[in-house]
Amino acid sequence: MEKNNVPVHVSIIMDGNGRWAQERGLERVRGHVEGVESVRSCTEAAAEAGVKYLSLYAFSEENWSRPQQEVEALMAMMVKAMVQEMDNFMENRIRFVVLGHRSRLGDSLNQAIDEAMAQTADNDGMTLIVFLSYSGKWDILEAAKKFAAAAAASRDPEKFIASMDMDGFGNYLCTAGIPDPDLIIRTSGEQRISNYLLWQAAYTEFVFPETLWPDFRKPQFLAALDTYAKRDRRYGKVK
Ligand code: IPE
Ligand code: IPE
Ligand code: MG
Repeated sequence: MEKNNVPVHVSIIMDGNGRWAQERGLERVRGHVEGVESVRSCTEAAAEAGVKYLSLYAFSEENWSRPQQEVEALMAMMVKAMVQEMDNFMENRIRFVVLGHRSRLGDSLNQAIDEAMAQTADNDGMTLIVFLSYSGKWDILEAAKKFAAAAAASRDPEKFIASMDMDGFGNYLCTAGIPDPDLIIRTSGEQRISNYLLWQAAYTEFVFPETLWPDFRKPQFLAALDTYAKRDRRYGKVK
């Protein structure tokens, strides 16, 4: 792959774990477990390719409505994976960040997240972001609430509100300081955004490979980067 035109921020909607397991007559959870291998493989591929931010949609706000057994298994897996990956993060200087509706997560998971984030905070390699209990509408609503509170507390609320612009509002989102994704990959052939980065994906390029997430590894990731490299991003302008 050419080294030019490497996206700064690649994001993945990791979909198809359940179908992967079903195809093999296995429990859905087995698909999630296998998916952790894909996370490892794509993280390595992204870092090697020079991607600066890799973000992963791991669990949506809507996913809380899945059967309790699946939700519990997923949460337990997250804790385990985080603990297991710490050495790898430190070795490869990966900064690890979790974004989402954290108060809905359990104490042990929140504790593991805090520890992993604190320990990797000064790493200067790729930033790996995991969106957990996240939804785009939640993010925008939270930002609006924070903005309203800041406006109300300001000396001149009218002026505060009038002077707000797009970049300024973006700083109230949980992704403040993180560049918008250049590329979003959604695996498993589904072609929808499922309440992911609604604000941040305004000019993102999308690819929709048919591969189910547990089968999506380094070659498939690099193929998506190749597809991206050929895209012509116009941002509404005439070239
Ligand atoms: C993605 O795989 C993982 C999560 C949403 C947590 P799915 O579990 O959605 O797999 P399918 O779409 O049912 O195959
Ligand atoms: C989107 O996948 C969320 C994640 C991959 C974490 P879903 O499987 O939950 O999305 P829908 O229900 O097919 O839209
Ligand atoms: Mg799915």
